[in-house]
Amino acid sequence: MNGRDLVRAVTDLGTARGRRAWRAALRHRRADAVGLPPRGPERARVPGALTGAEPRPGGGVLRFARSELLVRVTVGGAVFWGWDGALPTPSYALVGEGPEADPRAVLEPDTGGGWRVVSERVTVAVSRHGAVEVRTPGGAVLRRELPPRWWEPVGAVGGARWQQRSEVGPDARFFGLGGRASGPRLRDGTYRLWNTDPRGGFGPGDDPLYITMPVQLVVADAGTHLSFYDNTWDGRVLLREGEEGAGSGADRPGVSEVRMDGGPLRCWVLVGTPSRVLQGWSGLTGAAAVPPEWALGHQHARWGFGTAEEVRRIVAGYTARGLPLSALHLDIDHFDGHRVFTVDGGRFPDLPGLARELEAAGVRLVSIVDPAVKVEEDPEGVYASGRAVGPAGAFVRDARGQEVRGEVWPGECAYPDFTDPLVRRWWGGLYEERLRQGFTGFWHDMNEPVSFTPAVFPDQTLPRSARHALDGAGGDHRAAHNVYGLAMARAGYEGLVRLRPAERPFLFSRSGWAGMQRYGGTWSGDVDTGWEGLRASLALVLGMGLCGVPYSGPDVGGFGGSPEPELFLRWFQLGAYLPLFRTHAALWAGRREPWEFGPEVLEGARAALAERERLRPYFVSLAHLARRTGAPYVRPLWWGAPEDRALRDCEDAFLLGDSLLVAPVLEPGADRRAVRLPRGRWYDTATGAAYEGPGQVLLDAPRGRIPVLARAGTVLPVRGADGTATLEAWAPAAGRTGGGVIARDPGPGFEPAELERLTVRWREGQVVVEGEDGTELKVRVRGL
Ligand code: GLC
Repeated sequence: MNGRDLVRAVTDLGTARGRRAWRAALRHRRADAVGLPPRGPERARVPGALTGAEPRPGGGVLRFARSELLVRVTVGGAVFWGWDGALPTPSYALVGEGPEADPRAVLEPDTGGGWRVVSERVTVAVSRHGAVEVRTPGGAVLRRELPPRWWEPVGAVGGARWQQRSEVGPDARFFGLGGRASGPRLRDGTYRLWNTDPRGGFGPGDDPLYITMPVQLVVADAGTHLSFYDNTWDGRVLLREGEEGAGSGADRPGVSEVRMDGGPLRCWVLVGTPSRVLQGWSGLTGAAAVPPEWALGHQHARWGFGTAEEVRRIVAGYTARGLPLSALHLDIDHFDGHRVFTVDGGRFPDLPGLARELEAAGVRLVSIVDPAVKVEEDPEGVYASGRAVGPAGAFVRDARGQEVRGEVWPGECAYPDFTDPLVRRWWGGLYEERLRQGFTGFWHDMNEPVSFTPAVFPDQTLPRSARHALDGAGGDHRAAHNVYGLAMARAGYEGLVRLRPAERPFLFSRSGWAGMQRYGGTWSGDVDTGWEGLRASLALVLGMGLCGVPYSGPDVGGFGGSPEPELFLRWFQLGAYLPLFRTHAALWAGRREPWEFGPEVLEGARAALAERERLRPYFVSLAHLARRTGAPYVRPLWWGAPEDRALRDCEDAFLLGDSLLVAPVLEPGADRRAVRLPRGRWYDTATGAAYEGPGQVLLDAPRGRIPVLARAGTVLPVRGADGTATLEAWAPAAGRTGGGVIARDPGPGFEPAELERLTVRWREGQVVVEGEDGTELKVRVRGL
């Protein structure tokens, strides 16, 4: 606790909300004092020596003196191992039961008295003391898990805390762990696994944030792998990058040490190229929801669009200036008294009418949805309807059976237990009211979940002892906290599919966990307004993509304060190339309409918007490809060349699909920037100049645009000047061919897009593009 927090906590006592927050926090403390007995003395345990082995499909069970280990290699090459009887299910991350065991992978004795399972893509070796090694078919070690350690309460069964230390190559880089502001490369440090609202904004130094996941993507010379400790509990991951010994010095391996406060010790490991690994990950945890086409255009939000008139004014401002706008978001201030699923009829007298009016102008309405429900008498209200769900009502209770109450925007609130299927069904039905009001998209917020506390209390959430259904398993908030947002997303998504079966829902959520891509995307939360915030917002999109969540983007311009015009423009230019392209800001922040920053910014924003519109079909294609292949739209530069160490360390540029390389300007005063290029020829899309990678080039980045390069030989769908979809190809280098896979949106429903494989080649001095059957397609060729 620091002095500032103390002062804030005392000042809180001066407001009614502050006093309620104090009361809620103290109640939560008391609930934990009763519901969570202290752990008492603990005993440490390690597996001990290997005593026997029994084959099982895809591997086997290895028995140790004080534990047992199940190893299973599955058909796609994903490896599962679990200690102490842990199986792949139940799991909040997995779709179904997970992949089947690979019948060809069998357990056999290894040298040194251990056992191993050899399969086509991976070898898993288990030592006599329970170290688990994951090797490539060529024998290179990708990851070595040392024997785990447990600490369990003396005399009690279960409830063990555990620690798993692993070693990776000395050159390895870590990525992932959900949304980390200091990423995308995760440097030495401790990263907590506990979804957290950082209170009033965050910068690169703030950790954890809204989405944490025990998912690591590790990139090394020996290969790329992903490891996922499937456990929802609070925990910490300590990372230390390794070091290669110079001269005769020895290598120091990279280290990951995962410590969990409870829950199963089980892990999935996927190996291969980055694209294979992400494909395997989406096979394991589910294909990403494809947002509707309109959600790939520009969206504008603000906390504080106070009236229907203001909304009309803003939309008219876009129209009058000829700026495209796809959606407008209404924050909590359109609610009646901040209560979810209500409308303030005074300020928004005819919301369905307003929605129709906007729709005619091509603008959809998106609604914020907060999970906490105001506790009130109203028999027609959401609270009363929640109380009537099932035998005990929809709301989370404490160990004594009392409803857990917290303090959120509307005042004293109760929290739906989304880990109960009955509650999800009830909640999903509530979106009917939103659809009737004319909303087409949904923005889930405050779902870590948040209960305001005075700043001196570390955790702004529910008491750890609070009870949850956990889909039949039963448990407390320690196990349910990290999947609260995920389960809420499921409730909303499934409800919307039931209510509007012909349309893909548009949903994005502040909090979530592994697998959340099945229901929608996310945004970067309340990112600080500043150059550091701009950088963090790119780190978050890249990191989430590598954890399997391809659709996200920042609050363009930052959440609080007023960005200087240059910062706003640079942020806008970056946002135009990210999946979710949304301006948003706090109630107390300055305006974020692009015309509020002077003529230079307006023209720059106009150009960025025009390019976004031109690339809309490409974004749609990337959305469908993400569903089919697991590849995020926004990828690190090393995506196709993980062995290139310079690319591995490059964090200020990204690949947008296979075709484009985007190099945003992330610092003030720049009119040029260095851009690192992967192998091959790249064209500056603004000047047409060609550059040869690998290497680094210095490119112009005047105020009006950021450097964007196109890969030689690539082909991408774009919108032509007349608004219709067309193709754009970039000339391959002489004597070479190129091509790509694209997808077109088959409509607003769930029909999967067909993938088209195109080839780009030189023929008689001309660049031509051919479809799969060899027919020549009409395209615009660039880079000649
Ligand atoms: C939270 C959200 C933010 C929203 C605000 C009011 O801070 O992160 O996006 O505007 O709540 O609802």
